Amino acid sequence: MSKKILLLAGDGIGPEIVNEARKVIDCVNEKMSLELAYEEGLMGGCSIDAHGVPLTDETIAQGRASDAILLGAVGGPKWDTLDRAIRPEKGLLKMRAELDLFSNLRPAILYPQLADASSLKKELVADLDILIVRELTGGIYFGEPRGIRILENGERQGYNTMVYRESEIERIGRNAFEVAQKRGKRLCSVEKANVLEVSGLWREIMEGLAPEYSDVELSHMYVDNAAMQLVRGPKQFDVVVTSNLFGDILSDCAAMLTGSIGMLPSASLNSDGLGMYEPVHGSAPDIAGQGVANPLATILSVEMMLRYSLGMAEAADAIAAAVGQVLDQNLRTADIFSEGMKKVSTSEMGDAVVDALMA
Ligand code: IPM
Ligand code: MG
Repeated sequence: MSKKILLLAGDGIGPEIVNEARKVIDCVNEKMSLELAYEEGLMGGCSIDAHGVPLTDETIAQGRASDAILLGAVGGPKWDTLDRAIRPEKGLLKMRAELDLFSNLRPAILYPQLADASSLKKELVADLDILIVRELTGGIYFGEPRGIRILENGERQGYNTMVYRESEIERIGRNAFEVAQKRGKRLCSVEKANVLEVSGLWREIMEGLAPEYSDVELSHMYVDNAAMQLVRGPKQFDVVVTSNLFGDILSDCAAMLTGSIGMLPSASLNSDGLGMYEPVHGSAPDIAGQGVANPLATILSVEMMLRYSLGMAEAADAIAAAVGQVLDQNLRTADIFSEGMKKVSTSEMGDAVVDALMA
């Protein structure tokens, strides 16, 4: 049966990197007869330019009707001065909420070929393989009430609310335990239970789930300590589960440990297996249109998509191997370039992955 992918190239470097990912999809599609079909849609600044809003109901419907979504990146200075309610980021947040993509998997893997790119000492990051499971449709990102109000003295006050209901904590918790069972069987739950009630509840629910996953070792860490431990000794972590805001922050930190945020894919999944896949990096407007962006995070997002939403593990393995090969060939885009390597453009990198797949 054919599977349908929705391509949302987005803004900035989005169209360039999604174009390379598309070459890779075309290649495995043909070579392995996968019967993948795709259509395109608009989300982010490009949708604002075309329709006045960052995400239309039509695009949401396109997403619902797909088996998986591949996103480039959204946002850029052109739209930064717009009202918060219609900024490009709102499109992304709305898609996450509408499709109930509550589980955000953000791996931080250090490729041995890129060990020098990390800002940490080599021995601290060699063979690093962490997975951050970030709750993506709740918490302070979506909590009500929110806004800016005028106080009695005329001063303005901004406010947001960090809220989690038991069922939301339980579903991301179960998800993280299940992921940990398939990996190193260690799960660290990160919150701020020493200060926040919402975190106290989070910890209680995680503890309650633990007996059902007795093969997984559960630990708890406050988020400030977790940030410190991530840069002090990142290899102590296997799977980290945390709330929306903490996960946003910690996943950037974890990504940087690898020294190459341009290499990291992510998946946002709902309970039906539908997922939106995107590179961890942003739209990088400063280098857009120059053909220098690294397409590998997007290509590896295709790998995750084949694995998690489309049930095509063989094709996923082939892509992972092809990416390893281009690194072994010393091909590097500017972001991961170092002395003695061969600098390539966005499209040369995409072509090299396709060549490796065909070899
Ligand atoms: C991310 C991004 C988004 C987030 C922004 C663009 C809304 O930082 O996916 O990590 O905060 O979730
Ligand atoms: Mg972020």
